[in-house]
Amino acid sequence: AEVKSFRKQLLDFYENTKRNLPWRKDPYKPPQKDDPDDRKKLAVQRFYEVLVSEIMLQQTRVETVKRYYDKWMKTLPTILHCAQADYDTEVMPLWSGMGFYGRCKRLHSACKYLAVLPAEEIPTSPERLAKNVPGVGPYTAGAVLSIAWGIPTGVVDGNVQRVLSRLLALHCNVTKGKPNAFVWQMANLLVDPNFPGNFNQALMELGAVTCTPQTFNCPGCPVSNICKAYQEKIAIEQTDNSVR
Ligand code: ADE
Repeated sequence: AEVKSFRKQLLDFYENTKRNLPWRKDPYKPPQKDDPDDRKKLAVQRFYEVLVSEIMLQQTRVETVKRYYDKWMKTLPTILHCAQADYDTEVMPLWSGMGFYGRCKRLHSACKYLAVLPAEEIPTSPERLAKNVPGVGPYTAGAVLSIAWGIPTGVVDGNVQRVLSRLLALHCNVTKGKPNAFVWQMANLLVDPNFPGNFNQALMELGAVTCTPQTFNCPGCPVSNICKAYQEKIAIEQTDNSVR
């Protein structure tokens, strides 16, 4: 019962406060009857949009990504455009200014790999997706599958690690290292099976705007009533300076 009300409070918060970002659309849901080829095209298109946005968002702020994302999608509107484009002259220039060019190279490789797969062979489990696609790790795989296709899987980035560590008062050191395996398990248990993409983005949003490293705003938090760190007044312990 507590998990259900946590999900509801978090999803309500997201609906009320979410920023309108170009890659935020509903996950793809197969319509009742239509052309199966159109269906695959739409599913792959949604996948591509979320993949591009998530890889851009890995090390770049949302406000900056908006511009780059729009330009990218105008120039390379589908995964096929991206796969067939020349890296040095057509792809890399779209990234120019964002830094971390390895991301761009790996995104291009991922598109080349995915574009030649039949749509039904794109892995629908985050483990297999991360294992098979260049540049796609557990975070990106979970984010893309939940946001683009509504597959119920949790994701943990630096923000989510901090939010869940506080919520559950895990007393773990969140200042270094990768998000830990226990937090991943928690994210997978907590994720709303009906709205996994919104749930995951709500956790990211909460970490970005409310449950921030230093100046966290507990009075404005939609889930302070069930937050263990808030009850124990120890949020400051669960601090991470390394996250946006
Ligand atoms: N950071 C990473 N993914 C994000 C998303 N989908 N929305 C906002 N911030 C993010």
